[in-house]
Order: sequence, then structure tokens, then C-alpha cells
Amino acid sequence: MSKIIMIGGSKGGTGKSTVCSAVLDYLESQGNDPILVETDTANPDVYKAHKANSRATAIELDTSEGWIDLVNLADNTRGQPLVINTAARNLTAVGKFGKTLESTLAELDRELITLWTINRQRDSLELMADYLETLPVSDRHMLHVVRNLYFGEPEKFQLYNDSGTRKRIESTGGKTVDFPDLADRVADDLATKRLSIKRASEELPIGNRAELLRWRKLAHIAIAALLS
Ligand SMILES: Nc1ncnc2c1ncn2[C@@H]1O[C@H](COP(=O)(O)OP(=O)(O)OP(=O)(O)O)[C@@H](O)[C@H]1O
Ligand SMILES: [Mg+2]
Repeated sequence: MSKIIMIGGSKGGTGKSTVCSAVLDYLESQGNDPILVETDTANPDVYKAHKANSRATAIELDTSEGWIDLVNLADNTRGQPLVINTAARNLTAVGKFGKTLESTLAELDRELITLWTINRQRDSLELMADYLETLPVSDRHMLHVVRNLYFGEPEKFQLYNDSGTRKRIESTGGKTVDFPDLADRVADDLATKRLSIKRASEELPIGNRAELLRWRKLAHIAIAALLS
């Protein structure tokens, strides 16, 4: 059963795009042929970094049309993982149209894996609860939480760590993993030069590359815990 990996988080700036790039990089390192679905039409940063690669496409998820395109794409690319980068404001659309995707998963023979990327604030959690109302965990949908250590050490995610939401997620088999912090200047290289991690690992100066490779290894370990 191949995967649809939805990088959620809803809140702006929690690291969704960074996690998305790392997921694509991880899947490629495993010999998979992932397809990026960029739904952040206002700021398609992951798409820009991967568009040289033909396996990247942009779909607007604010309309029912977009969800139809997404399901058809999932059908036409069976066997390949789809990785969806979502925008900060996508939750309303998921609320409205998410069922379109959910109702087709069995026929597509796919499973949906949501990676909910959080910072240390309350809204990340509230929005996750809303998301789960629309797309509940099931035998075809699993949600895992990614604590983005860019915002601090794991113990600083106190609101999440002590929350009922965490208990609920982990009781359904969801995991909590820590996504590593990358040195700011290398993160800025990725953003300003619009590089995929693979390209950055080939093109950056040696010092920046060394930091990138340190981070990449840890990122792959975190992601492998969720996807393998
Ligand atoms: N683990 C990390 N290490 C280093 N920098 C990070 C990390 N996570 C996020 N950042 C930085 O924080 C900023 C926001 O990250 P990113 O663009 O991935 O968030 P986002 O959730 O996709 O934002 P948006 O909601 O605007 O799409 C970027 O400058 C990025 O480089
Ligand atoms: Mg983003």
C-alpha cells in the first residue's frame, strides 16, 4: 500500500516546508520516487526548490476542483508516494473537502499519513484537534506529531507534552518525533537559493555542507521512525 504523506501544521511558520523537503529527501534516499504536491500557492517554496524535477506539481486545495485533481493524481501515480506540502491556511479546505480524499483511500489502495509539525504554542494543538475532527485516525489514516526543535528542546514543548491531545494520538498508534534544528545560515541557504537538500549537499561550501549532512542524518532518522 503506497502512501500519501500530508505535511500539516496549519499554523504559519512551524516548519512544514522544511519537514516536507526532508521527507522528499528521505524517500529518495530509500530508492522511492516521491511526487511533491505543492498546495501553498501563495508561497510555493518547496515546489520552487523541486520544480527542476518533473515529479513536482502544484495543486490548489481551496476548491473542490483541486481535491478532485489530487485524488486523480493519486490514482495515476499508484505505487509512488505523494508528499503534500500544505499552507498555513489550508485547514478550512481540509474541513470542507478532506472527506473527498478520505473516501477514496481504499479504492486507491493508499494510506494517508499526516505529519503534524508543531512549535511550542497552543494554536498548533488546537488546530490539530480540529484537523482530527475532519480526518480522524483510522486503519487508513495515521497522524504523527513532529516537534520542530528549531523552537527549542523537546522538554520545552510542555503544552504538547502534557496534553490530552498527545495521549489521544499516542493511544491510536501515533508517534511523537523530534525534528532536528539546522544552523540558521544553512537553513537560509536552502530558502534563499531555493535548493533541494540533495542539491544543497552537492553545491554548498564545505563547511555549510558538513552542517547540512549532520542535520540530514538526524532528520532521516526522525522521518524513518514515522514512515518505515
Ligand atoms: N528545523 C529547522 N532548522 C532550522 N531552521 C528551521 C527549521 N524549521 C524551520 N526553520 C526555519 O523557520 C522558517 C519557517 O520554516 P518553514 O518555511 O519550513 O515553515 P512553514 O510552516 O512551511 O511556513 P509557512 O506556514 O509560511 O509555509 C524558515 O526560515 C526555516 O528556515
Ligand atoms: Mg511552508
